[in-house]
Amino acid sequence: MEEKKRYTITAALPYANGPLHLGHLAGAYLPADIFVRYLKAKGNDVAFICGSDEHGAAITLRAKKEDCTPQEIVDKNHEIIKKSFADFGIDFDIYHRTSSKLHHETASQIFKDLYDKGSFTQETTNQFFDQEHQQFLADRYVTGTCPKCNSAGAYGDQCEKCGSSLNANELINPISTLSGKTPVLKETTHWFLPMNKHEKWLKTWIETGILDGKQQHDPTKWRKQVIGQCKSWIDNGLQPRSITRDLDWGVKVPVEGGEGKVLYVWFDAPIGYISATKQWAADNSKNWEDYWKDSNTQLIHFIGKDNIVFHGIIFPIILKEHGDFILPTNVPANEFLNLEGDKISTSRNWAVWLHEYLEDFPNKQDELRYVLTSIAPETKDSEFTWKDFQARVNNELVAILGNFLNRSIVLTHKYFEGKVPEQGVLTDYDNQVLQAIISTQNRVDELIESYRFRDAQTEAMTLARLGNKYLADTEPWKLVKTDETRVKTILNVSLQLCLGLSEIFKPFLPKTSSRIKQFLNATNETVLTNQHQLNAAELLFQKIEDEAVEAQIEKLKNPTVKQSNPKAKPMKEEITFDDFTKMDIRVATILAAEKHPDADKLLKLTVDTGIDIRTVVSGIAEHYKPEDVIGKQVSMLVNLAPRKIRGIESKGMILMAENNEGSLAFISPEKAMDNGGEVK
Ligand code: 2FM
Ligand code: ZN
Repeated sequence: MEEKKRYTITAALPYANGPLHLGHLAGAYLPADIFVRYLKAKGNDVAFICGSDEHGAAITLRAKKEDCTPQEIVDKNHEIIKKSFADFGIDFDIYHRTSSKLHHETASQIFKDLYDKGSFTQETTNQFFDQEHQQFLADRYVTGTCPKCNSAGAYGDQCEKCGSSLNANELINPISTLSGKTPVLKETTHWFLPMNKHEKWLKTWIETGILDGKQQHDPTKWRKQVIGQCKSWIDNGLQPRSITRDLDWGVKVPVEGGEGKVLYVWFDAPIGYISATKQWAADNSKNWEDYWKDSNTQLIHFIGKDNIVFHGIIFPIILKEHGDFILPTNVPANEFLNLEGDKISTSRNWAVWLHEYLEDFPNKQDELRYVLTSIAPETKDSEFTWKDFQARVNNELVAILGNFLNRSIVLTHKYFEGKVPEQGVLTDYDNQVLQAIISTQNRVDELIESYRFRDAQTEAMTLARLGNKYLADTEPWKLVKTDETRVKTILNVSLQLCLGLSEIFKPFLPKTSSRIKQFLNATNETVLTNQHQLNAAELLFQKIEDEAVEAQIEKLKNPTVKQSNPKAKPMKEEITFDDFTKMDIRVATILAAEKHPDADKLLKLTVDTGIDIRTVVSGIAEHYKPEDVIGKQVSMLVNLAPRKIRGIESKGMILMAENNEGSLAFISPEKAMDNGGEVK
């Protein structure tokens, strides 16, 4: 019996400021899910933890742009993200959120504990301040030219072009994104984590795995780039890092002098793993401390490479300094996934969004899981292309795995009424195939335990390839006329192999694996017994056609191909600017309104256009009562030739927007304007 262990497996909390794309899945969530499925199948006690990272200046910035509250932004995205994970079978034990009360309490308490212990320093520094908005600017709110690569539009915390992390005051020609003006430097006081004090133990811990004199982890199991990045930070000398911000969205700083300040998002986000575990434990009658404070528990953080310093250095400092907490036994970080020859970029919409993928390829989540694991950026950046996606689905899933499975089951139905035939006498070749099931399973296990998911899945596919070769070599469809006993053996061996494949592929392709089990009419058995009745098989996978792939490439290069509102009417014929300027549209105010005496749909309006006071007949009576519209400022086409409408002369037209269901809304200026103001 293998020893059962307890694991806390976390996957980086995604920012709730937009939906998920391929890079997210490939970077952290898919490998984490494979690992967890593997561990759980072995009977280990695993808490698989994730949730939305809902704080930070990027979210407040987005809220400003979309003219709504940060809470509205995160509420919307939390649901979209959560659904994408569920759709792709990323099976967290809890998907929590950092805007929850429990998280605020937990993060606040950890900050307070450290503050009380004297773990922080306080420093007054100069920070950018927007004079027009009377507000300190988080790094994200400042843009400028990157000092490293010289490209414009770098953010104060990071240049998305070259990937360098920055400080806002390093930017050349800084500009406030709030006012568009150059910000000034102004003094502000913040709390800092003196990372420099922790260099010594961190260096030993990262390099040797030794913590407080004990072997806490095995550094040979850590990825080279993770150790490399952490070491390079430490070797360059760690600096005190500010852990509070002048912002009003986040976890409030719970100590004196903290008014108007919140915890830095990277201080509270990893604590989100702990608060999520607390919630999960409370919901499932568990003790959360077993998962965070017991030295027998393995804590493993799955992340992308841009998160290495936070999980390899900063969070471990917080955990260790607090005391009681365990430190990670591994931080398997992936490199980046590129897309069709370019970096994935959400701002340029160079991305394949998970929810859109499923609209275009319904029920094909395992196909994407397969391809993303095949090209997983485990040791270096890798690339997703639609042509490669098509080739891997068609040449591997369809032609190898699907084909082998289908042939084995269909032949059994054809020759033996779908009953598993008896095994009989085995040849060396048969034995070799049966042995391969066991050796592949062992090899796959070893590779998964070494975080080599890509190689592990390749081994599994190699086994399916062997199955296909076995059928091609033994040709049961030819033997059936002359040697039925031999055919029975061949199909028995093939079906055992199908069962083995369903087990081995289970962590990688969970849906496919359960479909195979369903075709085999199998539940927990490790072998299929003689005369076991199979179910009918359907095709496991379908070919991806050229058109589907071309449409995706087209969509990527020309994102307008997809209308955000499919019901929007097609655009009218193009006009010139002169055509446009013929229309005289003005701001006007409705002074009086009454029902048209002879028509239910019409209102008779008296309108101040700034030029004159006049009568307009408008077809809005089914949408607005007269008393609702009096006093409204609207946009009005004033030089439309007068028309008699049901006996009343109407001069001009009030502009209305119409939505898909036909309801109407006024086009009103966003703030009060002078009547007669031109709309242009
Ligand atoms: O990079 C990111 O998407 C961050 N939201 C990851 C946070 S991981 C953890 F610390 F919460
Ligand atoms: Zn740069």
